[in-house]
Order: sequence, then C-alpha cells, then structure tokens
Amino acid sequence: MSEKGLFIVIEGVDGSGKTTQAELLAAYLRSKGRRVHHTAEPTASGLGGMVRDGLGAEHPRTNDELAAMFLADRVAHNVSPKSGIRRYIESGTDVVCDRYYYSSIAYQGVGGSLEWVAAMNLNCPSIMKPDICIFIDLDPEKCMEHIQAGRSHFEIYEENAAVIAETRRRYGIVFDMLAGRDNIVVVDGARAKEDVFEDIRAAVEKLL
Ligand code: TYD
Repeated sequence: MSEKGLFIVIEGVDGSGKTTQAELLAAYLRSKGRRVHHTAEPTASGLGGMVRDGLGAEHPRTNDELAAMFLADRVAHNVSPKSGIRRYIESGTDVVCDRYYYSSIAYQGVGGSLEWVAAMNLNCPSIMKPDICIFIDLDPEKCMEHIQAGRSHFEIYEENAAVIAETRRRYGIVFDMLAGRDNIVVVDGARAKEDVFEDIRAAVEKLL
C-alpha cells in the first residue's frame, strides 16, 4: 500500500487570498515531487452548480437549504469513485481544498442552526477530517478591497465589510469549538503573499 496523501484545507472569509495561497501550496508540494490534487468547495459538479445557483440572487435558498446542499456536495466530493477526496488520499495524492466544513459551520451555522450544521458535517462517516486547516486571517476592509478589485458581481455572503466581519467572528467560534478535535492553524494574511505562504509552508512541512 502506498503512503497516504495529506489532506489540507485552506479557509478564510471572501477576499482573504485563500485561492492564491492554495495555488502556491499546490505548486510547492508538486515541486517537492508530491502528487497534488487542488480542489474547492462548492465543487464544479452538478451539485456544486446547484449550490452556486442557490447563492445567487435569482434562485435564493434559505440558510438550512444551503446547509443541506453544501453537505450533499461535500459528501459527493469525498466519496466520488473517480475524483473523490478519499480516493486521492488513499492512493497517496495530497489534496489541497479551498474551503470545507469549516465554511458551512461559519456561514450556515447561524440563527439556531449551529448545532445541526456542525453535527451533520462532523459526524458524517463519509466526510473525512483534514490533516490540517489553515485559516488566512485578514481585516474585512482589506478583503473588500480584494473583492472589489477582482469581481463584477457579489454573492449573498460578500455584501460588505460588516458581513465579512461577522463571518470572521463566526470562524472564531468554529475554531474554539473544534480546538482539540481538528488541527487548525491561523495565519496572518495582512502581509506580502510570499510571507503569508512562508507560514503556511512551515505548518505543512511539519506534517511531511
Ligand atoms: P467560493 O467559491 O470560495 O467563493 P470565493 O471564490 O468568492 O471565495 O465560495 C462561494 C461562497 O460559498 C462563499 O461566499 C462562501 C460560501 N460557502 C458557504 O457558505 N458554505 C460552505 O460550506 C462553503 C464551502 C462555501
């Protein structure tokens, strides 16, 4: 049996720079001769497309509908026989995933839904626990600058700095809740991307 791959999740509020860092990390791991699968949630599958639709203004969904849709997308993302996370990890390929269940608990764990959203995600036997979750922490005003520079439309969770600040606060609740269960590393995102990456590299290196 080959050695298992690492399962690495990159999290952050919208505009925090997580996609850039996930790309840097995937490239770094490849440069070390490792096989890497870079993926994201919501996924590019049909289920992921439905979720994205539900995030847009045209077909809005309730919070609990979204939580259930993200959950279904995540289960499929884990167990898909061709391109599932489990298959990659077990065949020795590292998986770098842009967002995971931490996002569901932070974004959909609101208005009395925190417990069920957390329980459905954390207790689901099909949903693998990552080896590490790296949270890129950045001031909401800076996130807004990134969003405005890079986007022409806004999804429901990206409206303004106050919404982002609230999401950031909820990530804090999620990480307190999962302390001791999950390996969570918070990285200061308010620096040059090379410096942010250096912290991420150092955290991942400890697992190699
Ligand atoms: P993403 O594609 O990462 O957006 P961006 O590239 O704009 O950062 O995610 C789209 C949105 O989905 C984002 O606002 C966060 C939200 N989201 C949830 O609300 N719950 C979830 O479980 C996930 C994975 C994402």
